[in-house]
Amino acid sequence: MPPVTPDAPGEGTPRGTAAGKAGRWGSLARQALAGERESRGAPGSRATMCELYSKQDTLALRRKHIGPSCKVFFAADPIKIVRAQGQYMFDERGEQYLDCINNVAHVGHCHPEVVTAALKQMELLNTNSRFLHDNIVEYARRLSATLPETLSVCYFTNSGSEANDLALRLARQFRGHQDVITLDHAYHGHLSSLIEISPYKFRKGKDVKKEFVHVAPTPDTYRGKYREDHADPAGAYADEVKKIIEEAHNSGRKIAAFIAESMQSCGGQIIPPAGYFQKVAEYVHRAGGVFIADEVQVGFGRVGKHFWSFQMHGEDFVPDIVTMGKPMGNGHPMACVVTTKEIAEAFSSSGMEYFNTYGGNPVSSAIGLAVLNVIESEDLQGNATRVGDYLTELLNKQKAKHTLIGDIRGIGLFIGIDLVKDQQKRTPATDEAQHVIYKMKEKQVLLSADGPHRNVLKIKPPMCFTEEDAKFMVDQLDEILTVVEEAIGARSESVTSENTPCRTKMPNEAHSELLSEGTSDPRENPSRKRNGLCTDKHSLLSKRLKT
Ligand SMILES: Cc1ncc(COP(=O)(O)O)c(C=O)c1O
Repeated sequence: MPPVTPDAPGEGTPRGTAAGKAGRWGSLARQALAGERESRGAPGSRATMCELYSKQDTLALRRKHIGPSCKVFFAADPIKIVRAQGQYMFDERGEQYLDCINNVAHVGHCHPEVVTAALKQMELLNTNSRFLHDNIVEYARRLSATLPETLSVCYFTNSGSEANDLALRLARQFRGHQDVITLDHAYHGHLSSLIEISPYKFRKGKDVKKEFVHVAPTPDTYRGKYREDHADPAGAYADEVKKIIEEAHNSGRKIAAFIAESMQSCGGQIIPPAGYFQKVAEYVHRAGGVFIADEVQVGFGRVGKHFWSFQMHGEDFVPDIVTMGKPMGNGHPMACVVTTKEIAEAFSSSGMEYFNTYGGNPVSSAIGLAVLNVIESEDLQGNATRVGDYLTELLNKQKAKHTLIGDIRGIGLFIGIDLVKDQQKRTPATDEAQHVIYKMKEKQVLLSADGPHRNVLKIKPPMCFTEEDAKFMVDQLDEILTVVEEAIGARSESVTSENTPCRTKMPNEAHSELLSEGTSDPRENPSRKRNGLCTDKHSLLSKRLKT
Protein backbone atom coordinates (compact mmCIF):
# COMPACT_ATOMS: atom_id res chain seq x y z
CA MET A 1 0.00 0.00 0.00
CA PRO A 2 1.71 3.21 -1.05
CA PRO A 3 2.04 5.61 1.84
CA VAL A 4 0.12 8.85 1.87
CA THR A 5 2.14 10.98 4.20
CA PRO A 6 0.53 13.69 6.32
CA ASP A 7 2.67 16.34 4.71
CA ALA A 8 2.01 15.27 1.17
CA PRO A 9 -1.59 14.14 0.95
CA GLY A 10 -2.30 12.46 -2.32
CA GLU A 11 1.30 11.89 -3.36
CA GLY A 12 1.90 8.30 -4.29
CA THR A 13 -1.82 7.67 -4.12
CA PRO A 14 -2.82 4.39 -5.73
CA ARG A 15 -4.12 4.14 -9.25
CA GLY A 16 -7.84 3.83 -9.83
CA THR A 17 -10.69 6.10 -10.73
CA ALA A 18 -11.17 7.81 -7.42
CA ALA A 19 -7.48 8.05 -6.69
CA GLY A 20 -6.95 10.53 -9.51
CA LYS A 21 -8.69 13.11 -7.39
CA ALA A 22 -6.07 12.88 -4.70
CA GLY A 23 -4.03 15.73 -6.13
CA ARG A 24 -6.93 18.12 -5.73
CA TRP A 25 -7.61 16.68 -2.30
CA GLY A 26 -3.99 17.29 -1.49
CA SER A 27 -4.01 21.00 -2.19
CA LEU A 28 -7.33 21.70 -0.50
CA ALA A 29 -6.50 19.59 2.53
CA ARG A 30 -3.10 21.26 2.75
CA GLN A 31 -4.75 24.68 2.81
CA ALA A 32 -7.16 23.58 5.50
CA LEU A 33 -4.40 22.10 7.63
CA ALA A 34 -1.87 24.88 7.11
CA GLY A 35 -3.29 27.25 9.71
CA GLU A 36 -3.49 24.51 12.29
CA ARG A 37 0.13 23.43 11.71
CA GLU A 38 1.43 26.97 12.01
CA SER A 39 -0.28 27.50 15.32
CA ARG A 40 0.52 24.12 16.81
CA GLY A 41 4.20 23.41 16.45
CA ALA A 42 6.95 21.80 14.47
CA PRO A 43 6.40 18.89 12.08
CA GLY A 44 6.54 15.55 13.84
CA SER A 45 5.60 16.97 17.23
CA ARG A 46 2.59 15.64 19.09
CA ALA A 47 0.77 18.90 18.44
CA THR A 48 1.32 18.58 14.68
CA MET A 49 -0.19 15.13 14.79
CA CYS A 50 -3.33 16.54 16.47
CA GLU A 51 -2.71 14.81 19.80
CA LEU A 52 -3.51 16.29 23.19
CA TYR A 53 -2.38 13.29 25.19
CA SER A 54 -0.10 10.31 24.84
CA LYS A 55 -1.95 7.16 23.79
CA GLN A 56 -1.61 5.75 27.28
CA ASP A 57 -3.13 8.88 28.84
CA THR A 58 -5.94 8.91 26.29
CA LEU A 59 -6.74 5.33 27.23
CA ALA A 60 -6.66 6.11 30.95
CA LEU A 61 -8.93 9.14 30.52
CA ARG A 62 -11.28 7.14 28.36
CA ARG A 63 -11.52 4.43 31.02
CA LYS A 64 -12.25 7.08 33.64
CA HIS A 65 -14.72 9.31 31.80
CA ILE A 66 -16.35 7.36 28.98
CA GLY A 67 -19.07 4.83 29.73
CA PRO A 68 -17.73 1.26 29.75
CA SER A 69 -20.44 0.10 27.33
CA CYS A 70 -18.92 2.34 24.66
CA LYS A 71 -16.50 -0.11 23.11
CA VAL A 72 -13.40 0.49 21.02
CA PHE A 73 -12.29 -1.48 18.00
CA PHE A 74 -9.55 -3.99 18.80
CA ALA A 75 -10.20 -3.73 22.54
CA ALA A 76 -7.09 -5.78 23.38
CA ASP A 77 -4.91 -3.26 21.59
CA PRO A 78 -6.91 -0.20 20.52
CA ILE A 79 -5.74 2.12 17.79
CA LYS A 80 -5.53 5.87 18.28
CA ILE A 81 -6.42 7.58 15.04
CA VAL A 82 -5.55 11.25 14.76
CA ARG A 83 -6.31 12.03 11.15
CA ALA A 84 -7.65 10.49 7.98
CA GLN A 85 -7.79 11.12 4.29
CA GLY A 86 -9.70 9.29 1.58
CA GLN A 87 -9.58 5.59 2.44
CA TYR A 88 -6.62 5.92 4.80
CA MET A 89 -6.42 6.59 8.52
CA PHE A 90 -3.32 7.59 10.45
CA ASP A 91 -2.42 6.82 14.02
CA GLU A 92 -0.52 9.05 16.44
CA ARG A 93 2.79 7.81 15.07
CA GLY A 94 1.79 8.63 11.51
CA GLU A 95 1.26 4.96 10.61
CA GLN A 96 -1.18 4.53 7.75
CA TYR A 97 -4.10 2.10 7.90
CA LEU A 98 -6.26 1.04 4.99
CA ASP A 99 -9.86 1.56 6.03
CA CYS A 100 -12.01 -1.29 4.72
CA ILE A 101 -14.98 -0.78 7.03
CA ASN A 102 -15.88 2.86 7.27
CA ASN A 103 -18.99 3.35 5.21
CA VAL A 104 -19.69 6.62 7.01
CA ALA A 105 -16.72 8.37 5.37
CA HIS A 106 -18.55 7.54 2.17
CA VAL A 107 -16.82 9.84 -0.32
CA GLY A 108 -13.55 9.54 1.60
CA HIS A 109 -12.41 10.78 4.97
CA CYS A 110 -12.23 14.55 5.23
CA HIS A 111 -13.10 15.10 1.58
CA PRO A 112 -12.06 18.71 0.87
CA GLU A 113 -15.28 19.59 -0.97
CA VAL A 114 -17.31 18.44 2.00
CA VAL A 115 -15.02 20.22 4.46
CA THR A 116 -15.17 23.42 2.42
CA ALA A 117 -18.97 23.28 2.12
CA ALA A 118 -19.25 22.93 5.89
CA LEU A 119 -16.79 25.71 6.55
CA LYS A 120 -18.44 28.16 4.17
CA GLN A 121 -21.92 27.57 5.52
CA MET A 122 -20.76 27.71 9.14
CA GLU A 123 -19.25 31.11 8.48
CA LEU A 124 -22.58 32.35 7.13
CA LEU A 125 -25.42 30.83 9.13
CA ASN A 126 -26.55 27.82 11.05
CA THR A 127 -30.02 27.65 12.50
CA ASN A 128 -33.02 25.39 12.71
CA SER A 129 -35.53 24.51 10.01
CA ARG A 130 -38.26 26.85 11.32
CA PHE A 131 -36.75 29.60 9.15
CA LEU A 132 -37.01 29.38 5.41
CA HIS A 133 -33.67 28.39 3.91
CA ASP A 134 -32.66 27.20 0.46
CA ASN A 135 -30.26 24.46 1.57
CA ILE A 136 -32.88 22.19 3.13
CA VAL A 137 -35.27 22.41 0.19
CA GLU A 138 -32.50 22.03 -2.36
CA TYR A 139 -31.22 18.96 -0.54
CA ALA A 140 -34.74 17.48 -0.32
CA ARG A 141 -35.24 18.14 -4.03
CA ARG A 142 -31.94 16.49 -4.97
CA LEU A 143 -32.52 13.54 -2.64
CA SER A 144 -36.04 12.93 -3.96
CA ALA A 145 -34.66 12.83 -7.49
CA THR A 146 -32.63 9.74 -6.54
CA LEU A 147 -35.74 7.92 -5.30
CA PRO A 148 -38.89 6.55 -6.97
CA GLU A 149 -41.40 9.32 -7.62
CA THR A 150 -43.77 8.42 -4.77
CA LEU A 151 -41.02 8.91 -2.18
CA SER A 152 -40.94 12.68 -2.09
CA VAL A 153 -41.48 13.90 1.48
CA CYS A 154 -38.44 14.24 3.77
CA TYR A 155 -37.95 14.56 7.52
CA PHE A 156 -34.40 15.37 8.56
CA THR A 157 -32.83 13.95 11.69
CA ASN A 158 -29.35 13.63 13.19
CA SER A 159 -28.83 9.90 13.29
CA GLY A 160 -30.02 6.68 11.76
CA SER A 161 -31.64 5.79 15.08
CA GLU A 162 -33.72 8.95 15.08
CA ALA A 163 -34.70 8.26 11.49
CA ASN A 164 -35.87 4.73 12.28
CA ASP A 165 -37.70 5.88 15.40
CA LEU A 166 -39.55 8.45 13.33
CA ALA A 167 -40.25 5.85 10.63
CA LEU A 168 -41.97 3.71 13.26
CA ARG A 169 -44.04 6.68 14.38
CA LEU A 170 -45.09 7.39 10.79
CA ALA A 171 -46.00 3.75 10.24
CA ARG A 172 -48.02 3.52 13.45
CA GLN A 173 -49.86 6.75 12.84
CA PHE A 174 -50.73 5.74 9.27
CA ARG A 175 -53.36 3.14 10.10
CA GLY A 176 -53.28 3.15 13.86
CA HIS A 177 -51.63 -0.27 13.96
CA GLN A 178 -48.90 -1.10 16.45
CA ASP A 179 -47.00 -4.28 15.61
CA VAL A 180 -43.69 -4.49 13.82
CA ILE A 181 -42.14 -7.39 11.91
CA THR A 182 -38.37 -7.36 11.95
CA LEU A 183 -35.72 -9.77 10.69
CA ASP A 184 -33.67 -11.97 12.94
CA HIS A 185 -30.21 -10.53 13.73
CA ALA A 186 -31.34 -7.08 12.57
CA TYR A 187 -29.96 -3.90 14.07
CA HIS A 188 -31.89 -0.67 13.55
CA GLY A 189 -30.46 1.68 16.16
CA HIS A 190 -29.73 2.40 19.77
CA LEU A 191 -32.93 4.12 20.96
CA SER A 192 -35.25 2.13 23.23
CA SER A 193 -37.84 1.92 20.45
CA LEU A 194 -35.21 0.37 18.17
CA ILE A 195 -33.57 -2.00 20.63
CA GLU A 196 -37.10 -3.42 20.87
CA ILE A 197 -37.07 -4.29 17.18
CA SER A 198 -33.38 -5.24 16.94
CA PRO A 199 -32.81 -8.93 17.71
CA TYR A 200 -29.07 -8.24 17.25
CA LYS A 201 -29.38 -6.31 20.52
CA PHE A 202 -32.27 -7.65 22.53
CA ARG A 203 -31.22 -11.26 22.06
CA LYS A 204 -27.86 -10.45 23.66
CA GLY A 205 -29.19 -8.33 26.51
CA LYS A 206 -31.56 -9.10 29.31
CA ASP A 207 -34.46 -7.54 27.43
CA VAL A 208 -37.17 -9.85 26.31
CA LYS A 209 -38.99 -9.56 23.05
CA LYS A 210 -42.00 -7.28 23.32
CA GLU A 211 -45.39 -8.73 22.37
CA PHE A 212 -45.81 -6.27 19.50
CA VAL A 213 -42.54 -7.39 17.88
CA HIS A 214 -42.44 -10.33 15.49
CA VAL A 215 -39.15 -11.79 14.32
CA ALA A 216 -39.02 -13.29 10.82
CA PRO A 217 -36.12 -15.46 9.72
CA THR A 218 -33.31 -13.64 7.96
CA PRO A 219 -33.46 -14.42 4.24
CA ASP A 220 -29.96 -15.87 4.35
CA THR A 221 -29.50 -18.42 1.60
CA TYR A 222 -26.09 -19.50 2.88
CA ARG A 223 -26.69 -20.36 6.53
CA GLY A 224 -30.41 -19.67 6.96
CA LYS A 225 -33.50 -21.83 7.03
CA TYR A 226 -33.87 -21.98 3.22
CA ARG A 227 -30.65 -22.18 1.28
CA GLU A 228 -29.40 -22.03 -2.27
CA ASP A 229 -30.61 -25.57 -2.93
CA HIS A 230 -34.21 -24.55 -2.18
CA ALA A 231 -36.38 -24.18 -5.27
CA ASP A 232 -37.78 -20.81 -4.18
CA PRO A 233 -36.02 -19.33 -1.15
CA ALA A 234 -37.55 -15.88 -1.75
CA GLY A 235 -41.06 -17.37 -1.66
CA ALA A 236 -40.27 -19.57 1.33
CA TYR A 237 -38.84 -16.70 3.39
CA ALA A 238 -41.73 -14.42 2.40
CA ASP A 239 -44.20 -17.13 3.43
CA GLU A 240 -42.66 -16.99 6.90
CA VAL A 241 -43.68 -13.32 7.06
CA LYS A 242 -47.14 -14.21 5.80
CA LYS A 243 -47.44 -16.81 8.56
CA ILE A 244 -46.40 -14.25 11.18
CA ILE A 245 -49.07 -11.85 9.92
CA GLU A 246 -51.74 -14.55 10.06
CA GLU A 247 -50.75 -15.55 13.59
CA ALA A 248 -50.73 -11.91 14.71
CA HIS A 249 -54.22 -11.42 13.24
CA ASN A 250 -55.42 -14.57 14.96
CA SER A 251 -54.43 -13.08 18.28
CA GLY A 252 -56.10 -9.77 17.49
CA ARG A 253 -52.94 -7.85 16.63
CA LYS A 254 -52.41 -5.49 13.70
CA ILE A 255 -49.26 -4.98 11.69
CA ALA A 256 -47.98 -1.42 11.39
CA ALA A 257 -44.75 -2.17 9.58
CA PHE A 258 -42.22 -4.59 8.25
CA ILE A 259 -38.73 -3.16 8.63
CA ALA A 260 -35.57 -4.51 7.04
CA GLU A 261 -32.24 -3.33 5.83
CA SER A 262 -32.11 -3.66 2.07
CA MET A 263 -29.01 -5.78 2.74
CA GLN A 264 -28.36 -6.84 6.31
CA SER A 265 -25.05 -5.50 7.54
CA CYS A 266 -24.56 -6.22 11.28
CA GLY A 267 -26.54 -9.41 10.64
CA GLY A 268 -23.64 -10.74 8.53
CA GLN A 269 -23.67 -9.06 5.10
CA ILE A 270 -26.83 -10.85 3.97
CA ILE A 271 -28.32 -10.18 0.57
CA PRO A 272 -31.99 -11.16 0.34
CA PRO A 273 -32.94 -13.30 -2.65
CA ALA A 274 -34.62 -11.62 -5.60
CA GLY A 275 -38.37 -11.36 -5.29
CA TYR A 276 -38.41 -11.58 -1.49
CA PHE A 277 -39.13 -7.90 -0.86
CA GLN A 278 -41.90 -7.78 -3.47
CA LYS A 279 -43.71 -10.70 -1.86
CA VAL A 280 -43.24 -9.38 1.66
CA ALA A 281 -44.49 -5.94 0.62
CA GLU A 282 -47.60 -7.55 -0.85
CA TYR A 283 -48.41 -9.42 2.39
CA VAL A 284 -47.64 -6.43 4.59
CA HIS A 285 -49.73 -4.04 2.50
CA ARG A 286 -52.61 -6.49 2.52
CA ALA A 287 -52.40 -6.40 6.33
CA GLY A 288 -52.55 -2.58 6.31
CA GLY A 289 -48.90 -2.19 7.20
CA VAL A 290 -46.06 -0.34 5.50
CA PHE A 291 -42.65 -1.46 4.26
CA ILE A 292 -39.70 0.39 5.82
CA ALA A 293 -36.39 0.00 4.01
CA ASP A 294 -33.47 0.82 6.28
CA GLU A 295 -30.71 2.16 4.02
CA VAL A 296 -28.68 3.65 6.87
CA GLN A 297 -25.69 1.44 6.03
CA VAL A 298 -26.20 0.52 2.43
CA GLY A 299 -27.58 3.58 0.64
CA PHE A 300 -26.00 6.34 -1.46
CA GLY A 301 -24.62 4.20 -4.26
CA ARG A 302 -22.68 1.62 -2.27
CA VAL A 303 -24.03 -1.17 -4.46
CA GLY A 304 -22.74 0.61 -7.55
CA LYS A 305 -25.40 0.06 -10.17
CA HIS A 306 -28.11 1.64 -8.07
CA PHE A 307 -28.22 4.58 -5.73
CA TRP A 308 -30.34 2.68 -3.22
CA SER A 309 -29.85 -0.97 -2.39
CA PHE A 310 -33.58 -1.71 -2.48
CA GLN A 311 -33.49 -0.78 -6.18
CA MET A 312 -31.55 -3.98 -6.88
CA HIS A 313 -34.87 -5.75 -6.46
CA GLY A 314 -36.37 -4.13 -9.54
CA GLU A 315 -38.65 -1.24 -10.34
CA ASP A 316 -41.71 -3.13 -9.18
CA PHE A 317 -40.53 -2.84 -5.60
CA VAL A 318 -40.93 0.52 -3.87
CA PRO A 319 -40.84 0.80 -0.08
CA ASP A 320 -43.29 3.12 1.67
CA ILE A 321 -40.63 4.61 3.91
CA VAL A 322 -36.87 4.78 3.42
CA THR A 323 -34.50 5.70 6.23
CA MET A 324 -30.93 6.81 5.67
CA GLY A 325 -27.99 8.16 7.64
CA LYS A 326 -24.32 7.27 7.99
CA PRO A 327 -22.92 8.08 4.49
CA MET A 328 -25.33 10.96 4.04
CA GLY A 329 -23.14 13.52 5.84
CA ASN A 330 -19.78 11.76 5.33
CA GLY A 331 -19.28 11.78 9.10
CA HIS A 332 -21.35 14.83 9.92
CA PRO A 333 -24.44 13.75 11.91
CA MET A 334 -27.14 13.85 9.31
CA ALA A 335 -29.98 11.43 8.60
CA CYS A 336 -33.39 11.39 6.99
CA VAL A 337 -36.72 9.64 6.58
CA VAL A 338 -38.34 9.82 3.17
CA THR A 339 -41.92 8.75 2.64
CA THR A 340 -45.02 9.20 0.52
CA LYS A 341 -47.34 12.18 0.58
CA GLU A 342 -50.12 9.96 1.91
CA ILE A 343 -48.15 8.72 4.91
CA ALA A 344 -46.83 12.21 5.64
CA GLU A 345 -50.34 13.63 5.59
CA ALA A 346 -51.58 10.93 7.94
CA PHE A 347 -48.74 11.82 10.31
CA SER A 348 -49.56 15.48 10.15
CA SER A 349 -53.24 14.82 10.78
CA SER A 350 -52.43 13.97 14.40
CA GLY A 351 -51.88 17.70 14.86
CA MET A 352 -48.51 17.18 16.52
CA GLU A 353 -45.62 19.20 15.15
CA TYR A 354 -42.43 17.38 14.24
CA PHE A 355 -39.49 19.50 15.32
CA ASN A 356 -35.88 18.47 15.39
CA THR A 357 -33.46 21.18 16.54
CA TYR A 358 -30.60 20.21 14.26
CA GLY A 359 -32.31 18.16 11.57
CA GLY A 360 -31.85 19.68 8.11
CA ASN A 361 -30.00 22.75 9.36
CA PRO A 362 -28.19 24.84 6.71
CA VAL A 363 -24.76 23.39 7.54
CA SER A 364 -25.93 19.75 7.46
CA SER A 365 -27.79 20.37 4.22
CA ALA A 366 -24.75 22.04 2.64
CA ILE A 367 -22.66 19.04 3.64
CA GLY A 368 -25.27 16.64 2.27
CA LEU A 369 -25.30 18.51 -1.03
CA ALA A 370 -21.51 18.34 -1.25
CA VAL A 371 -21.65 14.58 -0.66
CA LEU A 372 -24.19 14.16 -3.47
CA ASN A 373 -22.03 16.29 -5.76
CA VAL A 374 -18.91 14.27 -5.05
CA ILE A 375 -20.68 10.93 -5.58
CA GLU A 376 -21.64 12.22 -9.00
CA SER A 377 -18.54 14.15 -10.04
CA GLU A 378 -16.13 11.39 -9.00
CA ASP A 379 -18.35 8.63 -10.38
CA LEU A 380 -18.18 6.80 -7.08
CA GLN A 381 -21.00 4.48 -8.07
CA GLY A 382 -18.99 3.45 -11.12
CA ASN A 383 -15.97 3.01 -8.87
CA ALA A 384 -18.00 0.84 -6.47
CA THR A 385 -18.96 -1.42 -9.36
CA ARG A 386 -15.49 -1.63 -10.89
CA VAL A 387 -13.52 -2.04 -7.68
CA GLY A 388 -16.23 -4.15 -6.06
CA ASP A 389 -16.25 -6.58 -9.02
CA TYR A 390 -12.47 -6.77 -8.99
CA LEU A 391 -12.36 -7.34 -5.25
CA THR A 392 -15.04 -10.02 -5.43
CA GLU A 393 -13.10 -11.74 -8.19
CA LEU A 394 -9.93 -11.72 -6.09
CA LEU A 395 -11.81 -13.00 -3.08
CA ASN A 396 -13.38 -15.82 -5.03
CA LYS A 397 -9.88 -16.92 -6.00
CA GLN A 398 -9.05 -16.92 -2.30
CA LYS A 399 -12.14 -18.98 -1.65
CA ALA A 400 -10.88 -21.59 -4.06
CA LYS A 401 -7.59 -21.62 -2.17
CA HIS A 402 -8.63 -21.44 1.47
CA THR A 403 -10.94 -23.91 3.16
CA LEU A 404 -11.63 -21.34 5.86
CA ILE A 405 -13.61 -19.26 3.38
CA GLY A 406 -17.12 -20.64 3.17
CA ASP A 407 -18.80 -17.91 1.20
CA ILE A 408 -18.07 -14.65 -0.53
CA ARG A 409 -21.17 -12.54 -0.98
CA GLY A 410 -21.62 -8.99 -1.94
CA ILE A 411 -22.41 -6.39 -4.45
CA GLY A 412 -20.50 -3.21 -5.22
CA LEU A 413 -18.44 -2.20 -2.21
CA PHE A 414 -20.52 -4.20 0.26
CA ILE A 415 -18.93 -7.62 0.61
CA GLY A 416 -18.89 -10.33 3.26
CA ILE A 417 -16.35 -13.12 3.75
CA ASP A 418 -18.01 -15.91 5.71
CA LEU A 419 -15.35 -17.91 7.53
CA VAL A 420 -16.20 -21.51 8.36
CA LYS A 421 -14.59 -24.37 10.21
CA ASP A 422 -15.85 -26.80 7.64
CA GLN A 423 -17.29 -26.24 4.25
CA GLN A 424 -20.22 -28.64 4.35
CA LYS A 425 -21.55 -27.92 7.80
CA ARG A 426 -20.81 -24.22 7.41
CA THR A 427 -19.81 -24.08 11.06
CA PRO A 428 -18.90 -20.46 11.80
CA ALA A 429 -15.17 -19.93 12.38
CA THR A 430 -15.66 -17.28 15.05
CA ASP A 431 -12.27 -17.47 16.80
CA GLU A 432 -10.47 -17.60 13.50
CA ALA A 433 -12.35 -14.50 12.29
CA GLN A 434 -11.37 -12.59 15.41
CA HIS A 435 -7.76 -13.71 14.97
CA VAL A 436 -7.80 -12.64 11.32
CA ILE A 437 -9.01 -9.12 12.03
CA TYR A 438 -6.29 -8.62 14.66
CA LYS A 439 -3.65 -9.94 12.27
CA MET A 440 -5.00 -7.69 9.50
CA LYS A 441 -4.66 -4.79 11.88
CA GLU A 442 -1.00 -5.67 12.38
CA LYS A 443 -0.73 -5.41 8.60
CA GLN A 444 -2.44 -2.02 8.85
CA VAL A 445 -5.71 -3.07 7.28
CA LEU A 446 -8.87 -2.30 9.23
CA LEU A 447 -11.60 -4.92 9.02
CA SER A 448 -14.32 -6.07 11.38
CA ALA A 449 -16.11 -9.35 11.95
CA ASP A 450 -19.86 -9.39 12.49
CA GLY A 451 -23.01 -11.44 12.08
CA PRO A 452 -24.71 -13.56 14.73
CA HIS A 453 -21.55 -15.68 15.04
CA ARG A 454 -19.09 -12.84 14.47
CA ASN A 455 -17.43 -14.86 11.75
CA VAL A 456 -18.23 -12.69 8.74
CA LEU A 457 -15.49 -10.29 7.70
CA LYS A 458 -17.24 -7.11 6.63
CA ILE A 459 -15.94 -5.03 3.77
CA LYS A 460 -17.62 -1.66 3.25
CA PRO A 461 -14.87 0.89 2.68
CA PRO A 462 -15.06 4.53 1.65
CA MET A 463 -16.24 4.59 -1.95
CA CYS A 464 -12.90 5.94 -3.21
CA PHE A 465 -11.35 2.52 -2.50
CA THR A 466 -9.12 1.54 -5.43
CA GLU A 467 -8.15 -1.68 -7.17
CA GLU A 468 -4.72 -1.38 -5.64
CA ASP A 469 -6.27 -1.15 -2.17
CA ALA A 470 -8.34 -4.24 -2.99
CA LYS A 471 -5.27 -6.17 -4.11
CA PHE A 472 -3.30 -5.10 -1.07
CA MET A 473 -6.10 -6.12 1.28
CA VAL A 474 -6.54 -9.51 -0.36
CA ASP A 475 -2.79 -10.22 -0.39
CA GLN A 476 -2.63 -9.59 3.36
CA LEU A 477 -5.68 -11.77 3.94
CA ASP A 478 -4.17 -14.54 1.84
CA GLU A 479 -0.98 -14.54 3.92
CA ILE A 480 -2.90 -14.60 7.19
CA LEU A 481 -5.32 -17.34 6.13
CA THR A 482 -2.41 -19.44 4.90
CA VAL A 483 -0.74 -19.23 8.30
CA VAL A 484 -3.98 -19.87 10.20
CA GLU A 485 -4.88 -22.85 8.05
CA GLU A 486 -1.42 -24.32 8.42
CA ALA A 487 -1.72 -23.91 12.16
CA ILE A 488 -5.06 -25.67 12.34
CA GLY A 489 -4.06 -28.24 9.73
CA ALA A 490 -6.93 -27.42 7.45
CA ARG A 491 -5.13 -26.00 4.48
CA SER A 492 -6.06 -27.26 1.05
CA GLU A 493 -3.10 -29.07 -0.43
CA SER A 494 -4.29 -29.22 -3.94
CA VAL A 495 -6.24 -26.43 -5.44
CA THR A 496 -7.01 -25.72 -9.02
CA SER A 497 -9.20 -23.09 -10.59
CA GLU A 498 -12.23 -21.83 -8.71
CA ASN A 499 -14.57 -23.38 -11.24
CA THR A 500 -13.14 -26.87 -11.34
CA PRO A 501 -14.61 -29.68 -9.28
CA CYS A 502 -13.16 -30.28 -5.85
CA ARG A 503 -9.76 -31.88 -5.73
CA THR A 504 -8.95 -30.57 -2.30
CA LYS A 505 -7.09 -32.86 0.06
CA MET A 506 -8.00 -32.45 3.70
CA PRO A 507 -5.24 -33.52 6.03
CA ASN A 508 -7.07 -34.58 9.13
CA GLU A 509 -9.56 -37.26 9.89
CA ALA A 510 -12.42 -34.94 10.55
CA HIS A 511 -12.16 -33.54 7.09
CA SER A 512 -11.95 -37.00 5.52
CA GLU A 513 -15.17 -37.88 7.28
CA LEU A 514 -16.79 -34.77 5.98
CA LEU A 515 -15.83 -35.62 2.44
CA SER A 516 -17.33 -39.07 2.79
CA GLU A 517 -20.69 -37.59 3.81
CA GLY A 518 -21.34 -37.17 0.12
CA THR A 519 -22.79 -33.69 0.19
CA SER A 520 -22.36 -31.24 -2.61
CA ASP A 521 -19.05 -30.07 -3.97
CA PRO A 522 -17.46 -28.27 -1.03
CA ARG A 523 -15.74 -25.69 -3.15
CA GLU A 524 -18.75 -24.86 -5.22
CA ASN A 525 -19.73 -21.29 -4.52
CA PRO A 526 -23.16 -21.42 -2.88
CA SER A 527 -23.71 -17.76 -3.67
CA ARG A 528 -23.90 -18.67 -7.31
CA LYS A 529 -27.20 -20.35 -6.75
CA ARG A 530 -28.54 -17.54 -4.68
CA ASN A 531 -30.08 -14.13 -4.71
CA GLY A 532 -30.50 -13.38 -8.42
CA LEU A 533 -31.05 -9.72 -7.79
CA CYS A 534 -31.75 -7.15 -10.44
CA THR A 535 -28.59 -5.81 -11.99
CA ASP A 536 -30.25 -3.22 -14.16
CA LYS A 537 -33.39 -1.19 -13.93
CA HIS A 538 -35.61 -3.41 -15.98
CA SER A 539 -34.83 -7.03 -15.46
CA LEU A 540 -34.17 -9.75 -12.98
CA LEU A 541 -31.28 -10.90 -15.05
CA SER A 542 -30.08 -14.13 -13.58
CA LYS A 543 -30.64 -16.39 -10.64
CA ARG A 544 -27.35 -15.51 -9.01
CA LEU A 545 -25.46 -12.58 -7.70
CA LYS A 546 -22.18 -11.70 -9.20
CA THR A 547 -20.02 -13.54 -6.73
C1 LIG B 1 -28.91 -0.59 9.71
C2 LIG B 1 -28.76 0.47 10.74
N1 LIG B 1 -29.81 1.25 11.03
C3 LIG B 1 -29.72 2.22 11.94
C4 LIG B 1 -28.55 2.46 12.63
C5 LIG B 1 -28.47 3.54 13.66
O1 LIG B 1 -27.77 4.61 13.18
P1 LIG B 1 -27.07 5.65 14.19
O2 LIG B 1 -25.94 4.93 14.84
O3 LIG B 1 -26.67 6.77 13.29
O4 LIG B 1 -28.10 6.06 15.17
C6 LIG B 1 -27.43 1.68 12.35
C7 LIG B 1 -26.15 1.92 13.04
O5 LIG B 1 -25.22 1.20 13.00
C8 LIG B 1 -27.54 0.66 11.38
O6 LIG B 1 -26.52 -0.14 11.10
